This record gives sequence, structure tokens and C-alpha cells, in this order.
Amino acid sequence: MERTFLMVKPDGVERSLIGEIVSRFEKKGFTLVGAKMLAVSKELAETHYGEHKERPFFNNLVSFITSSPVFAMVWEGENVIAEARKMMGKTNPEEAQPGTIRGDFGVIVSMNIIHGSDSSESAKREIELFFKDEELVSYEKTI
Ligand code: CMP
Repeated sequence: MERTFLMVKPDGVERSLIGEIVSRFEKKGFTLVGAKMLAVSKELAETHYGEHKERPFFNNLVSFITSSPVFAMVWEGENVIAEARKMMGKTNPEEAQPGTIRGDFGVIVSMNIIHGSDSSESAKREIELFFKDEELVSYEKTI
């Protein structure tokens, strides 16, 4: 079964949106297999966002993601990588459709509430970066 990495960013945590966000993915039918609050270190932020190293917003991005705790999650389900990105909406909340997480709660691109893996390669890399194997569970729903 496919897995993806999702992270409620510092703005989402400070605005008390963790419950709302978890609820949306639960109601969609995806399975939460790992979750934790953590303070992202500068080193972890720079590795996680390494592909954006040359972008002008890189330093701000690292400062922002290390500014306050995040809520990191691993979700499992059919086509969950693409479906979660649909539910998150476009990166820039100004372009995100109402009904999506960023469309409903986001205001600006640098504080866009949530991060989600964009491919199976990123999902694998990001899950391994944030979680140890023993922090993830595997189960079949029986109800
Ligand atoms: P995320 O999906 O976490 O991946 C990279 C992040 O860079 C993105 O969400 C945005 O929050 C952030 N970012 C900050 N400024 C910009 C920008 N000008 N264009 C694109 N992304 C930006």
C-alpha cells in the first residue's frame, strides 16, 4: 500500500489546525500509520528542503520551518501521494481552490499550512528522514 509524508507546518500548528487536518485525511479513508510533534533542526530543514537550496526563498523557508514545532505524519492508502496533494491544494494558497486545505486556511505561499510529498521517491526519502521504522505501525482496518 502506498505511503506519503505530510507535515503540518508551524503556522498550521500555531493556528490549532492539526485536528482539522488529521480529520480530513481520516474522513477520506486514509490510514494514519505514524505521527509526532517535533522541533525541526536547521540541519533537518536543510536536508528536507535540499532541492530548493538555490531558490531565493530557501533561507526564509528554513527559518520558518524551524521557528515553531511541526506535526509530522505518515499516511497510507490507495494513491495517497497524489490524493493528499489534491486535498492540500496548490502550493500558493492564493491559487488553491476552496475546499482544499491551503484554499480554506492558507494566506501566503511562505506560510501554506502543510507540506506533502510530491512523488513516491520524495515520500520514501521524507518518511526515512523524519521517522524510524519502529515509529510506524502497520494494520488492517477491521471496522
Ligand atoms: P512546500 O510544499 O513545503 O515545499 C517548498 C516550500 O517552499 C513551499 O511549500 C512553500 O511554502 C515554500 N515557499 C516559500 N516561498 C515560495 C515561493 N516564492 N515559491 C514557491 N514556494 C515557496
